[in-house]
Amino acid sequence: MNNIIINTDVGEGTINKNIYGHFAEHLGRCIYEGIWVGEDSSISNTKGIRNDVLQALKNIDVPVLRWPGGCFADEYHWKDGVGPAENRKRMVNTHWGGVVENNHFGTHEFMLLCELLGTEPYICGNVGSGSVQEMSEWVEYMTFDGESPMANWRQENGQKEPWKLKYFGVGNENWGCGGNMRPEYYADLYRQYQTYCRNYGENTLYKIAGGANVDDFNWTEVLMREAAPLMDGLSLHYYVHPGGFENKGSAVDFTEDEWDITMKKALFIEELIMKHGTIMDKYDPEKRIGMIIDEWGTWFDVEKGTNPGFLYQQNTIRDAVVAGVSLNIFNNHSDRVQMANIAQTVNVLQAMILTEGEKMILTPTYHVFEMYKVHQDAEKLSLDLTSENVGNDAYPQVSASASKAKDGSINISLCNMDKAAETNVTLELRGLSTANINGRILTADEMNARNTFEAPEEVQPTKFTEFTSQENKLAITLPKMSVVTLNVK
Ligand code: AHR
Repeated sequence: MNNIIINTDVGEGTINKNIYGHFAEHLGRCIYEGIWVGEDSSISNTKGIRNDVLQALKNIDVPVLRWPGGCFADEYHWKDGVGPAENRKRMVNTHWGGVVENNHFGTHEFMLLCELLGTEPYICGNVGSGSVQEMSEWVEYMTFDGESPMANWRQENGQKEPWKLKYFGVGNENWGCGGNMRPEYYADLYRQYQTYCRNYGENTLYKIAGGANVDDFNWTEVLMREAAPLMDGLSLHYYVHPGGFENKGSAVDFTEDEWDITMKKALFIEELIMKHGTIMDKYDPEKRIGMIIDEWGTWFDVEKGTNPGFLYQQNTIRDAVVAGVSLNIFNNHSDRVQMANIAQTVNVLQAMILTEGEKMILTPTYHVFEMYKVHQDAEKLSLDLTSENVGNDAYPQVSASASKAKDGSINISLCNMDKAAETNVTLELRGLSTANINGRILTADEMNARNTFEAPEEVQPTKFTEFTSQENKLAITLPKMSVVTLNVK
């Protein structure tokens, strides 16, 4: 038996909407084909950005979008991607498949995408192979309102007004693809590079330092010790690959054991948040600096027959449950976690959307983001969960989080991580007398149920009615492998 108590009148701070953020890198078919098709494409588009993908992303209220990488960011030279498209430099995307990057999608196109989506841009600058001047000039190009070499150039390239840019990352994975640096060295570079990322006029940057890989607590310790006053956010990257990095396992052909390992590894992010958070607390007890989990999600072997450098994987109900559980954890730690960006938006890793030519499908993970968007900028509610363990006692069956929306209604999200059995949950809503309850559910019979181009609606949210209520208590039956949201008015 699982029990949940929600104190509906005990708010615990705002769940930053940016926890529901996304990440789009110049990798495989994420930007090119997935988002950008060019104005001359037969696929319906707005100034080169495909309309079906735009509309789908609008429906999940993308609050913030990280770009251009990832590892690509530390090889990207932004000046190659502005000005007339026909003059833009063609480069090799050495990190991701060695393909030609024609730079047709650059700063102006990214800013247009953000504008069309109504999303905040989060740009990651190049520390690994770029100069201080190059980074400084990018910020000047985008945000300076006045006469300067970069602002003049922006205007010549068609953008009169400066853009509003808040989130700026100073490098990516600088312990690895971003330069193989030691934390002491990167901390010094961070201090230097960020100095020249100026706040022009009203534009104030929120500067994000490149953070640790998984459980590299020393990285967090050194960055916080050496640079905390100069940063607004510190990132953390964590991917779930059941077989380890070298042998990740298939996205669709997996065993029950792999399901269990995946769930256990997904839950591990909570331990990481707490341990990195404890180090951050030592230097920043006020929690001014946000933990920015700007890459997370499942990472499996690429689909057979696809370019290994393109990281294209299918997406099943297992991915959906990982998404639901992870977002519950982020909600529950929203005092420190200020942003999270799932990797990646289209056609790469745990994608929201898959495309094939002009066809597009929405993944089970997409549906979780759509169901959970009610938590964006809502007041987190105090929640106490007691759950049974499953998977040979390896992990709890149930995950949950709750928030109060601006209209006073309460949204609760629940996951049953068990691949084998439904489970009963009693839920007490303290501080509430009568209520109108509406539920939605995403579930499937098979562990690898998924949407395909032939059957795009196999895994869809439906109405959820498996609960009874008496006064402020609910008796809920959660089917196996399910993500449920309840709206209580
Ligand atoms: O998301 C794929 C890659 O994973 C990113 O480019 C990199 O930052 C991370 O290692």
